[in-house]
Amino acid sequence: MIGKGRSDVRVTITGLGAYAPERVITNDELARMVDTSDEWIIERTGIRERRIAADSQALSDLSMPAARQALEQAGSDGTDVDLLIVATVTPDMMFPSTSAILADQLGAKDAAAYDLSAGCTGFMYALAQAYGMVASGLARRALVVGGDVLSRILDWTDRSTVVLFGDGAGAVVLEPSEETGFLAFELGADGAGGEHLWLPGSGSRHFDEPEKAIKMNGREVFKFATRVLVQSAEDILSRCEVTKEDVDVYVPHQANVRIIDHATKKLGFPSDKVVVNVERYGNTSSGSIPLALRDGIDDGRIRTGSLVLMTGMGAGLTWGSALLRWTL
Ligand SMILES: CC(C)(COP(=O)(O)OP(=O)(O)OC[C@H]1O[C@@H](n2cnc3c(N)ncnc32)[C@H](O)[C@@H]1OP(=O)(O)O)[C@@H](O)C(=O)NCCC(=O)NCCS
Repeated sequence: MIGKGRSDVRVTITGLGAYAPERVITNDELARMVDTSDEWIIERTGIRERRIAADSQALSDLSMPAARQALEQAGSDGTDVDLLIVATVTPDMMFPSTSAILADQLGAKDAAAYDLSAGCTGFMYALAQAYGMVASGLARRALVVGGDVLSRILDWTDRSTVVLFGDGAGAVVLEPSEETGFLAFELGADGAGGEHLWLPGSGSRHFDEPEKAIKMNGREVFKFATRVLVQSAEDILSRCEVTKEDVDVYVPHQANVRIIDHATKKLGFPSDKVVVNVERYGNTSSGSIPLALRDGIDDGRIRTGSLVLMTGMGAGLTWGSALLRWTL
């Protein structure tokens, strides 16, 4: 699916927040748990450390600080949010949805609230949905949260996955705007590749399956990731008749430095245009892009008027890009 907004109503991000739990786990700590090393992890992934939720923290606990920051920047206390989407594969529980829990905590009594599952691409899918609802006039102020507590669904004895992931969440507020904001979205899914990144024992097909941790074919996911990051970016730029040189900041999903470097090189972006923070957070799934946006703003690269290209990819297999003229 690819499209430029046709509505006269422009939609933009009016607030952004991000949160990562305090507990840091370094590669050396992991090397005491499984047969791995700091050297191997850095060489193959670029990751140095990741944040892990406390036992008492579920997704809503990670999402709330991010949501509050985003709402504060947008000048809202949350009661006037009328759409709340949480993109995640690790909700507090299957139901009630984490979004309904957050809507209640925020006092967003008139909000439609639901969770969205699209793997690590969830945040991009949720942005597109919220964009569509705000552009159509169905919603006026949307809160989009992307976050995951992947530490809960990892097999802590499996060195091939445990080194890659971390916990975190981010949130943005979307509203109609006089300024440009979102220009287009490109989203896709390839269910045939779903078997390469999956969670057995997590739903109605394998409910009694004792195995409840992420399973991954790293090499296949690597190939998929490098392919779609490039293809999706090229497609959306071409749809918007924008050149690679026009892009000011590239914010790819933070899965692995090698994947990002590969895509960046193919796309021809100089490294100073690319936001990379995977070394500090690992892959936080749906939290990854908003956490990276936060860093891009903090280091001064994302500023008013910047043309920002974001691309996510992950389980499904799914991918999604958005092109946005930053207005904050
Ligand atoms: C997972 C990944 C880092 C592995 O790197 P790789 O270069 O493909 O490594 P391989 O899987 O070929 O494994 C090479 C060797 O390292 C070993 N290995 C795997 N994990 C290891 C670890 N944490 N520490 C040390 N050795 C490890 C393997 O067992 C294998 O050993 P062998 O050759 O004796 O069989 C890489 O495939 C990757 O990044 N894939 C994408 C994953 C991803 O981003 N998923 C989320 C997408 S949203």
